[in-house]
Amino acid sequence: MPPLIEVKNLTKHFPYKKKTYLKALSEVSLEIHTGETLGLVGESGSGKSTLGKLLLRLQEATSGAIYFASRNIISLSPPELKAWRKEAQMIFQDPYASLNPRMTVETIISEPFHIHNLPITEARLKELFSQVDLNFEYRKRFPHEFSAGQRQRIAIARALALNPKFIVCDEAIASLDVSIQAQIINLLKDLQKTLGLTYLFISHDLRMVKYISHRIAVMYLGSIVEIAPSSELYKNPLHPYTEALLSAIPSIEKLGARIMLKGEIPLPLNPPKGCKFCTRCPKVHDLCHKVNPPLREISPGHLVACHLYNEKPTCT
Ligand SMILES: Nc1ncnc2c1ncn2[C@@H]1O[C@H](COP(=O)(O)OP(=O)(O)O)[C@@H](O)[C@H]1O
Ligand SMILES: [Mg+2]
Repeated sequence: MPPLIEVKNLTKHFPYKKKTYLKALSEVSLEIHTGETLGLVGESGSGKSTLGKLLLRLQEATSGAIYFASRNIISLSPPELKAWRKEAQMIFQDPYASLNPRMTVETIISEPFHIHNLPITEARLKELFSQVDLNFEYRKRFPHEFSAGQRQRIAIARALALNPKFIVCDEAIASLDVSIQAQIINLLKDLQKTLGLTYLFISHDLRMVKYISHRIAVMYLGSIVEIAPSSELYKNPLHPYTEALLSAIPSIEKLGARIMLKGEIPLPLNPPKGCKFCTRCPKVHDLCHKVNPPLREISPGHLVACHLYNEKPTCT
């Protein structure tokens, strides 16, 4: 089966002051398979949200292609785009900001039907409430009458309303307590199983992504630097940036001491000529300043963009 989503050389530049561009995303290529969760991790500013928004056509790409069920969604006409929007949805970090405070929950969850001129029945509404474990008796209440976790359930119900195939969860659990994060992750996993959903699960926090992701892509300064099956990435991280991110998680003892990176992620204005990570990499060498390493498959399904792995397929 072809992947549900195939991204080819996707690039996004934002105009920045006079005659310069912020290179938020550079030549990103990846695939997401039907029923899969691809985790997307990296520090704030690495381009994760930009990728999520491009995949949903909430922003326009500078160049590149996005195939959704083998169809290039970048070239859709406005009516085609409107029809396609039902297929893909987004859940944001802060449901309080994304839910209209003056609307009842019932109105919020019914809104997608109105936008697409589709009928909504009470039975369907009841089903949506039950799918996210919200009490249907609360349907006339307003967002502020719910807890943060319940508000995220409302946002999920709204995202599910039109039976999408694909959902981008952009830091969807970031503002929740750890126990509530686990509940929402379990809910998303259950929904994935019963509805056959495909997720891009964006998070700056590597602790939780492993519980939901089948594969994880690590992003730095607008590029994917490593992509691997979830368990493989945690067991055998290859890129020095991935190692540093993982070493910051207290519970991963095996990896030893925390690797402190120098400085902050720079603005993607004039990325270094070679590897974009060379200014902060603890394992940097000469070549890194000159040549940008391509993303290469090192073992089945495990790709890394790092000169350390250029000659030797397995490196310690
Ligand atoms: N609408 C925008 N206009 C200008 N620059 C933007 C815009 N959105 C994001 N950026 C810039 O693009 C880069 C990537 O941002 P973003 O995708 O939000 O990263 P992340 O989600 O990983 O934190 C950042 O340098 C950010 O400042
Ligand atoms: Mg973001």
